[in-house]
Amino acid sequence: MKLLEKIRQEFLGLDTEYRTIDGSSQRRVYLDSTASTLMMKAAYDAMEEFYQHYANTHSLLHFSAKIATSEYHWAHDRILSFLQADPERYTCFFTGSGSTAAINRLARIFRDYRPDRGTAFVSLMEHHSNDLPHRKHARKVVHIPFDMNSGNPGCIDLSTLEAELERNKDSASYVAVTGVSNVTGIINPVYDIAELAHKYGAFMLVDGAQMAAHLPVQISGHENPARNIDAFVFSGHKTYVPGSPGVVICRKDILSAMEPEEVGGGMVEQVFVERYLISEKFPDREEAGTPNIPGAIGLAAAIEVLDTIGMQRIFKDEDELINYALDKILALPEIAVYGETDCSRCPRAASISFNILGMDHGIVAAVLNDYFAIAVRNECFCAHPYVKEMIADYLESRVGQVDFNDFDINLKIKAGMVRTSFGLYSTREDVDLLVAALKDICANRDNYSAQYHVDDNGNYVHNQFKMAESNPFSVQQYVQQELKS
Ligand SMILES: Cc1ncc(COP(=O)(O)O)c(C=O)c1O
Repeated sequence: MKLLEKIRQEFLGLDTEYRTIDGSSQRRVYLDSTASTLMMKAAYDAMEEFYQHYANTHSLLHFSAKIATSEYHWAHDRILSFLQADPERYTCFFTGSGSTAAINRLARIFRDYRPDRGTAFVSLMEHHSNDLPHRKHARKVVHIPFDMNSGNPGCIDLSTLEAELERNKDSASYVAVTGVSNVTGIINPVYDIAELAHKYGAFMLVDGAQMAAHLPVQISGHENPARNIDAFVFSGHKTYVPGSPGVVICRKDILSAMEPEEVGGGMVEQVFVERYLISEKFPDREEAGTPNIPGAIGLAAAIEVLDTIGMQRIFKDEDELINYALDKILALPEIAVYGETDCSRCPRAASISFNILGMDHGIVAAVLNDYFAIAVRNECFCAHPYVKEMIADYLESRVGQVDFNDFDINLKIKAGMVRTSFGLYSTREDVDLLVAALKDICANRDNYSAQYHVDDNGNYVHNQFKMAESNPFSVQQYVQQELKS
């Protein structure tokens, strides 16, 4: 507990202040961790120290290269052990800046691994990054809706998934599902889904972008091996290390059956003019070119910290905060919270999305920022079908059938929500500040609305207040000042 408290209080940016509309300086309340988390100081310190030894991992014999290479390898091993993936059967490699590059890569790998099986199963809850790559690369994508058994949209509907797998069993290639929704925070039963996928000969890919930093993950070693995951991805910038890479964990037997997707330096044994011999070593063969070595080391340092605290502990702590926030927000009658809100029926992590009824999400997010220095995200969070389905479901339960394709035209509703999301550093005090601000907005909605207009980009902008005048940060100015001092 002591360690968790220490780590939580040390995050970079917790004391950042901005001048708000009344001219006062207020502490920023960061409730946008689902987009990107703040930087963990212990990881930042480890990276800073590592820079003293920085060298390219493709150099071999000097001291710094040896240190960089061994630490970079350790980063891979540490991630595998964090996610309980057997290093004999799985490899971990870094790719791009987040989960998007990782999922695109896997969609191409699955396409090429079994060209005779072209159907991917994707849930309706997915972030576009775990939907569009499959639409682009798989021959066919079947979208699986969410469970409505409780009357509210919950996790992925397992019976529909099974029916679709049965119907497409000869072509079933893989199931790709998010571990945790980036909109509602609803947690999917990924091990049950893996069991179903494997029953029909499909692989299981988990989008762990919102999972890795929030709950324990077990990729392999389940008593029933059908519950093991075949491929898992997550984003370093959502795991407390902005600037760190995206990560793929995948079964080696799948990868070694094909030439790696990317070729270049570092992944070959021999190159002749007529041909080249690809390395059989993992992860080298999957990482062409010079990797983001400091980012990988920072990420592994953060993971060392998370694992030392214990992911079960972290999950329990966040679960209490989510329940606290849900109780408080649900008590506000003017607010619609989306998805199943009974966590005993349908657990959640990280995010809660809502709307103040009759008020555009854009104004709410702008007021929270400009008047209260509360940072949230609004709009559709790169999950358009899910957000529209959720809003349609909410409206249906009140006004009858709604066609979600007609939001703008017939209903005069701009599809979107406000999302509050949490990280290790989020506290009850942050939730209390959000709830107090929401109460104030609900009580004065016309006054607030009158202060805003929509600019040419479609964003709500305050009629007088301009951030650039009072809250500047300029890299150039900073550098020039440092040069003078
Ligand atoms: C569930 C989920 N999957 C994928 C992504 C894409 O991740 P990235 O932006 O790191 O590529 C996100 C980003 O928010 C996400 O929340």
